[in-house]
Amino acid sequence: MTLQPATLQLRVVAVRELNPLIRMIRLSADDGRVLPAYTAGAHIRVHVTLPDGTQDWRHYSLINFETQADATDAPTDYVIAVRREAEGRGGSRFMHERVKKGDLVTIEAPKNDFPLHTGLGGTVLLAGGIGVTPLTSMATSRRAEGLPVRMHYAGHSRELMAFLPELQALLGDALRIHADSEHGAPFDISALLDDFPSGHRLYVCGPKVMLDAVLAQTQTRGWEHDRVHFELFTTPVVEAGDHAFELELAQSGRCFTVPANQSILDCLIEHGCDPLFDCKRGECGVCATLVLEGEIDHRDYVLTARERTEGNVMQICISRARGERLVLDM
Ligand code: FES
Repeated sequence: MTLQPATLQLRVVAVRELNPLIRMIRLSADDGRVLPAYTAGAHIRVHVTLPDGTQDWRHYSLINFETQADATDAPTDYVIAVRREAEGRGGSRFMHERVKKGDLVTIEAPKNDFPLHTGLGGTVLLAGGIGVTPLTSMATSRRAEGLPVRMHYAGHSRELMAFLPELQALLGDALRIHADSEHGAPFDISALLDDFPSGHRLYVCGPKVMLDAVLAQTQTRGWEHDRVHFELFTTPVVEAGDHAFELELAQSGRCFTVPANQSILDCLIEHGCDPLFDCKRGECGVCATLVLEGEIDHRDYVLTARERTEGNVMQICISRARGERLVLDM
Protein backbone atom coordinates (compact mmCIF):
# COMPACT_ATOMS: atom_id res chain seq x y z
CA MET A 1 0.00 0.00 0.00
CA THR A 2 1.57 3.29 -1.02
CA LEU A 3 0.88 6.55 0.78
CA GLN A 4 -0.62 8.22 -2.26
CA PRO A 5 -1.14 11.91 -2.83
CA ALA A 6 -3.75 13.13 -5.33
CA THR A 7 -3.23 12.38 -9.00
CA LEU A 8 -3.44 14.96 -11.79
CA GLN A 9 -3.79 14.66 -15.54
CA LEU A 10 -1.44 17.14 -17.20
CA ARG A 11 -0.66 17.95 -20.82
CA VAL A 12 2.86 17.72 -22.22
CA VAL A 13 3.22 21.28 -23.55
CA ALA A 14 6.91 21.18 -24.48
CA VAL A 15 9.64 18.62 -24.99
CA ARG A 16 13.31 19.48 -25.52
CA GLU A 17 16.28 17.18 -25.96
CA LEU A 18 18.98 18.82 -23.85
CA ASN A 19 21.57 16.35 -25.10
CA PRO A 20 21.58 12.75 -26.38
CA LEU A 21 20.78 11.44 -22.88
CA ILE A 22 18.57 14.04 -21.21
CA ARG A 23 15.12 15.15 -22.22
CA MET A 24 13.27 18.06 -20.62
CA ILE A 25 9.47 17.88 -20.40
CA ARG A 26 7.10 20.70 -19.43
CA LEU A 27 3.62 19.82 -18.12
CA SER A 28 0.60 22.03 -17.50
CA ALA A 29 -3.15 21.79 -17.00
CA ASP A 30 -5.38 22.16 -20.08
CA ASP A 31 -7.29 25.05 -18.54
CA GLY A 32 -4.09 26.81 -17.47
CA ARG A 33 -5.06 26.63 -13.81
CA VAL A 34 -2.54 26.97 -11.03
CA LEU A 35 -0.98 23.65 -10.02
CA PRO A 36 -0.24 22.49 -6.48
CA ALA A 37 2.61 24.41 -4.87
CA TYR A 38 5.99 22.82 -4.25
CA THR A 39 9.24 23.66 -2.54
CA ALA A 40 12.82 23.21 -3.73
CA GLY A 41 13.84 19.55 -3.70
CA ALA A 42 10.31 18.25 -4.40
CA HIS A 43 9.51 15.58 -6.96
CA ILE A 44 6.46 14.34 -8.79
CA ARG A 45 5.76 10.74 -9.66
CA VAL A 46 4.83 10.11 -13.29
CA HIS A 47 2.82 7.12 -14.40
CA VAL A 48 4.73 5.06 -16.98
CA THR A 49 4.17 1.90 -18.98
CA LEU A 50 7.11 -0.51 -19.07
CA PRO A 51 8.02 -2.57 -22.16
CA ASP A 52 6.26 -5.67 -20.76
CA GLY A 53 3.05 -3.66 -20.29
CA THR A 54 3.47 -3.26 -16.52
CA GLN A 55 2.19 0.02 -15.13
CA ASP A 56 4.58 1.78 -12.77
CA TRP A 57 5.64 5.17 -11.42
CA ARG A 58 8.89 7.10 -11.74
CA HIS A 59 10.11 9.98 -9.56
CA TYR A 60 11.30 13.17 -11.26
CA SER A 61 12.46 16.26 -9.40
CA LEU A 62 10.83 19.57 -10.22
CA ILE A 63 13.10 22.12 -11.87
CA ASN A 64 12.74 25.83 -11.30
CA PHE A 65 14.93 28.71 -12.42
CA GLU A 66 12.42 31.49 -11.70
CA THR A 67 13.57 33.59 -8.75
CA GLN A 68 10.37 35.56 -8.14
CA ALA A 69 8.85 34.76 -4.77
CA ASP A 70 5.69 32.96 -5.89
CA ALA A 71 7.25 30.91 -8.72
CA THR A 72 6.67 27.61 -6.95
CA ASP A 73 3.82 28.78 -4.69
CA ALA A 74 1.46 29.11 -7.61
CA PRO A 75 3.08 27.32 -10.56
CA THR A 76 1.30 27.02 -13.89
CA ASP A 77 3.63 24.31 -15.10
CA TYR A 78 5.98 21.62 -13.87
CA VAL A 79 9.34 21.02 -15.55
CA ILE A 80 11.21 17.74 -15.25
CA ALA A 81 14.30 16.27 -16.94
CA VAL A 82 14.67 12.58 -17.65
CA ARG A 83 17.93 10.77 -18.24
CA ARG A 84 17.68 7.79 -20.55
CA GLU A 85 18.82 4.70 -18.64
CA ALA A 86 19.69 2.05 -21.20
CA GLU A 87 20.02 -0.62 -18.51
CA GLY A 88 16.87 0.32 -16.62
CA ARG A 89 13.51 -1.45 -16.61
CA GLY A 90 12.10 0.87 -19.28
CA GLY A 91 10.58 3.83 -17.38
CA SER A 92 13.03 6.35 -18.78
CA ARG A 93 12.75 4.84 -22.26
CA PHE A 94 8.98 5.35 -22.02
CA MET A 95 9.57 9.00 -21.12
CA HIS A 96 12.01 9.41 -24.03
CA GLU A 97 10.38 7.33 -26.74
CA ARG A 98 6.65 7.28 -26.05
CA VAL A 99 5.85 10.61 -24.43
CA LYS A 100 5.43 13.44 -26.94
CA LYS A 101 4.12 16.98 -27.04
CA GLY A 102 0.32 17.04 -26.74
CA ASP A 103 0.05 13.82 -24.72
CA LEU A 104 -1.77 13.64 -21.41
CA VAL A 105 0.22 12.10 -18.55
CA THR A 106 -0.88 11.12 -15.07
CA ILE A 107 1.20 12.37 -12.19
CA GLU A 108 1.01 12.49 -8.44
CA ALA A 109 1.06 15.93 -6.83
CA PRO A 110 4.49 17.12 -5.62
CA LYS A 111 6.06 15.69 -2.50
CA ASN A 112 9.29 16.79 -0.88
CA ASP A 113 11.56 14.21 0.75
CA PHE A 114 14.63 16.41 0.21
CA PRO A 115 13.80 19.84 1.66
CA LEU A 116 16.22 22.69 2.28
CA HIS A 117 16.85 23.55 5.92
CA THR A 118 15.60 26.74 7.40
CA GLY A 119 17.67 28.87 9.71
CA LEU A 120 21.29 29.87 9.75
CA GLY A 121 24.15 28.58 7.68
CA GLY A 122 25.06 28.56 4.03
CA THR A 123 24.26 25.86 1.50
CA VAL A 124 26.64 23.81 -0.62
CA LEU A 125 25.09 21.69 -3.36
CA LEU A 126 26.88 18.70 -4.90
CA ALA A 127 25.30 17.29 -8.06
CA GLY A 128 26.35 14.16 -9.90
CA GLY A 129 24.95 13.80 -13.42
CA ILE A 130 21.16 14.00 -13.62
CA GLY A 131 21.16 14.46 -9.83
CA VAL A 132 21.44 18.14 -10.68
CA THR A 133 17.66 18.45 -11.11
CA PRO A 134 16.49 18.97 -7.49
CA LEU A 135 19.59 21.07 -6.81
CA THR A 136 18.64 23.55 -9.58
CA SER A 137 15.52 24.45 -7.61
CA MET A 138 17.52 24.62 -4.39
CA ALA A 139 20.05 27.00 -5.94
CA THR A 140 17.20 29.15 -7.28
CA SER A 141 15.47 29.17 -3.91
CA ARG A 142 18.62 30.24 -2.06
CA ARG A 143 19.29 32.98 -4.62
CA ALA A 144 15.67 34.19 -4.30
CA GLU A 145 16.09 34.33 -0.52
CA GLY A 146 19.42 36.14 -0.82
CA LEU A 147 21.17 33.39 1.14
CA PRO A 148 24.66 32.04 0.45
CA VAL A 149 24.83 29.08 -1.89
CA ARG A 150 27.40 27.40 -4.08
CA MET A 151 27.15 24.39 -6.34
CA HIS A 152 29.58 21.74 -7.50
CA TYR A 153 28.28 19.94 -10.57
CA ALA A 154 30.11 16.81 -11.68
CA GLY A 155 29.54 14.80 -14.84
CA HIS A 156 31.37 12.76 -17.43
CA SER A 157 31.52 15.58 -19.98
CA ARG A 158 29.99 19.04 -20.44
CA GLU A 159 28.13 17.77 -23.53
CA LEU A 160 26.15 15.35 -21.38
CA MET A 161 25.43 17.73 -18.51
CA ALA A 162 22.15 19.64 -18.28
CA PHE A 163 21.24 23.27 -17.60
CA LEU A 164 24.80 24.62 -17.66
CA PRO A 165 23.81 28.01 -19.20
CA GLU A 166 20.92 28.44 -16.76
CA LEU A 167 23.08 27.53 -13.77
CA GLN A 168 25.89 29.80 -14.90
CA ALA A 169 23.44 32.70 -15.26
CA LEU A 170 21.96 31.97 -11.84
CA LEU A 171 25.11 31.27 -9.85
CA GLY A 172 28.01 32.87 -11.68
CA ASP A 173 31.24 32.18 -9.79
CA ALA A 174 29.34 30.15 -7.21
CA LEU A 175 29.07 27.34 -9.77
CA ARG A 176 32.00 24.93 -10.12
CA ILE A 177 31.79 22.46 -12.98
CA HIS A 178 33.76 19.24 -12.95
CA ALA A 179 33.83 17.25 -16.18
CA ASP A 180 35.68 13.94 -15.79
CA SER A 181 36.68 14.13 -19.48
CA GLU A 182 38.59 17.37 -18.81
CA HIS A 183 40.18 16.41 -15.50
CA GLY A 184 40.87 12.78 -16.31
CA ALA A 185 39.53 11.83 -12.88
CA PRO A 186 36.29 11.86 -10.95
CA PHE A 187 35.26 14.75 -8.70
CA ASP A 188 37.48 14.99 -5.61
CA ILE A 189 35.14 14.66 -2.65
CA SER A 190 37.99 14.82 -0.12
CA ALA A 191 39.07 18.20 -1.46
CA LEU A 192 35.52 19.51 -1.17
CA LEU A 193 35.24 18.37 2.43
CA ASP A 194 38.74 19.63 3.34
CA ASP A 195 37.69 23.08 2.26
CA PHE A 196 34.14 22.99 3.61
CA PRO A 197 32.98 26.17 5.38
CA SER A 198 31.98 25.65 9.01
CA GLY A 199 28.29 26.15 9.64
CA HIS A 200 27.36 25.27 6.05
CA ARG A 201 25.29 22.25 5.10
CA LEU A 202 25.85 19.91 2.19
CA TYR A 203 23.11 18.67 -0.14
CA VAL A 204 24.08 15.78 -2.42
CA CYS A 205 22.15 14.24 -5.27
CA GLY A 206 23.79 11.85 -7.67
CA PRO A 207 24.74 8.24 -8.24
CA LYS A 208 25.18 5.77 -5.41
CA VAL A 209 28.98 5.74 -5.69
CA MET A 210 29.09 9.50 -5.05
CA LEU A 211 26.62 9.38 -2.21
CA ASP A 212 28.35 6.45 -0.51
CA ALA A 213 31.71 8.23 -0.72
CA VAL A 214 30.29 11.46 0.74
CA LEU A 215 28.55 9.65 3.59
CA ALA A 216 31.63 7.55 4.41
CA GLN A 217 33.96 10.55 4.39
CA THR A 218 31.70 12.87 6.38
CA GLN A 219 31.17 10.11 8.94
CA THR A 220 34.94 9.58 9.23
CA ARG A 221 35.37 13.31 9.76
CA GLY A 222 32.80 13.28 12.54
CA TRP A 223 30.21 15.47 10.84
CA GLU A 224 26.86 15.83 12.56
CA HIS A 225 24.28 13.63 10.88
CA ASP A 226 22.01 16.54 9.94
CA ARG A 227 24.75 18.47 8.18
CA VAL A 228 24.52 16.23 5.09
CA HIS A 229 21.25 15.92 3.20
CA PHE A 230 20.95 13.62 0.25
CA GLU A 231 18.80 12.01 -2.38
CA LEU A 232 19.91 9.03 -4.38
CA PHE A 233 19.30 9.52 -8.04
CA THR A 234 19.19 6.01 -9.30
CA THR A 235 16.85 3.15 -8.73
CA PRO A 236 18.48 0.09 -7.13
CA VAL A 237 20.61 -1.90 -9.53
CA VAL A 238 21.70 -5.51 -9.55
CA GLU A 239 25.14 -5.74 -7.91
CA ALA A 240 27.85 -8.27 -8.63
CA GLY A 241 27.18 -11.41 -6.61
CA ASP A 242 23.44 -10.81 -6.21
CA HIS A 243 21.69 -14.14 -6.13
CA ALA A 244 18.20 -15.58 -5.84
CA PHE A 245 17.01 -16.60 -2.37
CA GLU A 246 14.00 -18.10 -0.63
CA LEU A 247 11.64 -15.81 1.22
CA GLU A 248 9.20 -17.04 3.82
CA LEU A 249 6.43 -14.92 5.33
CA ALA A 250 6.00 -16.22 8.87
CA GLN A 251 2.47 -14.96 9.48
CA SER A 252 0.92 -16.34 6.29
CA GLY A 253 3.30 -19.22 5.72
CA ARG A 254 3.70 -18.19 2.07
CA CYS A 255 7.08 -18.80 0.39
CA PHE A 256 8.58 -17.21 -2.71
CA THR A 257 11.84 -17.23 -4.61
CA VAL A 258 13.23 -13.69 -4.97
CA PRO A 259 15.21 -13.58 -8.25
CA ALA A 260 18.64 -11.94 -8.38
CA ASN A 261 17.26 -9.06 -10.42
CA GLN A 262 14.20 -8.30 -8.29
CA SER A 263 13.75 -6.66 -4.89
CA ILE A 264 11.87 -8.36 -2.07
CA LEU A 265 9.31 -5.56 -2.26
CA ASP A 266 8.65 -6.04 -5.98
CA CYS A 267 8.52 -9.81 -5.52
CA LEU A 268 5.83 -9.40 -2.82
CA ILE A 269 3.82 -7.00 -4.96
CA GLU A 270 4.05 -9.35 -7.93
CA HIS A 271 2.60 -12.12 -5.77
CA GLY A 272 -0.38 -10.03 -4.69
CA CYS A 273 0.91 -8.88 -1.29
CA ASP A 274 0.34 -5.30 -0.15
CA PRO A 275 3.51 -4.15 1.66
CA LEU A 276 3.96 -0.54 2.77
CA PHE A 277 6.47 1.40 0.71
CA ASP A 278 7.20 4.82 -0.68
CA CYS A 279 10.64 5.73 -2.10
CA LYS A 280 11.81 2.26 -3.24
CA ARG A 281 15.39 3.54 -2.83
CA GLY A 282 16.15 2.74 0.79
CA GLU A 283 15.79 6.34 1.92
CA CYS A 284 12.38 6.92 3.48
CA GLY A 285 12.17 4.07 6.00
CA VAL A 286 8.56 3.21 5.20
CA CYS A 287 9.19 -0.40 4.15
CA ALA A 288 11.06 -1.44 7.35
CA THR A 289 10.21 -5.08 8.09
CA LEU A 290 11.08 -7.36 10.98
CA VAL A 291 13.33 -10.28 10.09
CA LEU A 292 13.01 -13.51 12.05
CA GLU A 293 15.67 -15.62 10.36
CA GLY A 294 18.48 -15.13 7.87
CA GLU A 295 21.40 -12.79 7.38
CA ILE A 296 20.63 -9.40 5.84
CA ASP A 297 22.64 -7.59 3.17
CA HIS A 298 21.75 -4.02 4.20
CA ARG A 299 21.76 -1.45 1.38
CA ASP A 300 19.57 1.29 2.77
CA TYR A 301 20.36 4.80 4.06
CA VAL A 302 17.92 4.66 6.96
CA LEU A 303 18.99 2.15 9.60
CA THR A 304 21.57 2.98 12.22
CA ALA A 305 24.75 0.96 12.62
CA ARG A 306 23.26 -0.55 15.77
CA GLU A 307 20.07 -1.62 13.98
CA ARG A 308 22.18 -3.22 11.28
CA THR A 309 24.26 -5.10 13.81
CA GLU A 310 21.18 -6.34 15.64
CA GLY A 311 20.04 -7.71 12.30
CA ASN A 312 16.32 -7.98 12.95
CA VAL A 313 14.95 -5.26 10.72
CA MET A 314 15.49 -4.50 7.02
CA GLN A 315 14.31 -2.20 4.24
CA ILE A 316 12.76 -4.65 1.83
CA CYS A 317 12.79 -2.25 -1.13
CA ILE A 318 16.57 -2.45 -1.46
CA SER A 319 18.24 -4.81 1.02
CA ARG A 320 18.64 -8.49 0.27
CA ALA A 321 19.65 -11.83 1.80
CA ARG A 322 23.30 -12.71 2.23
CA GLY A 323 22.45 -16.37 2.38
CA GLU A 324 19.89 -18.66 0.81
CA ARG A 325 16.84 -17.80 2.95
CA LEU A 326 15.09 -15.03 4.88
CA VAL A 327 12.01 -15.29 7.11
CA LEU A 328 10.05 -12.05 7.53
CA ASP A 329 7.50 -11.24 10.22
CA MET A 330 4.66 -10.51 7.84
S1 FES B 1 10.35 2.26 0.43
FE1 FES B 1 11.59 3.85 1.26
S2 FES B 1 13.10 2.76 2.38
FE2 FES B 1 11.99 1.24 1.36
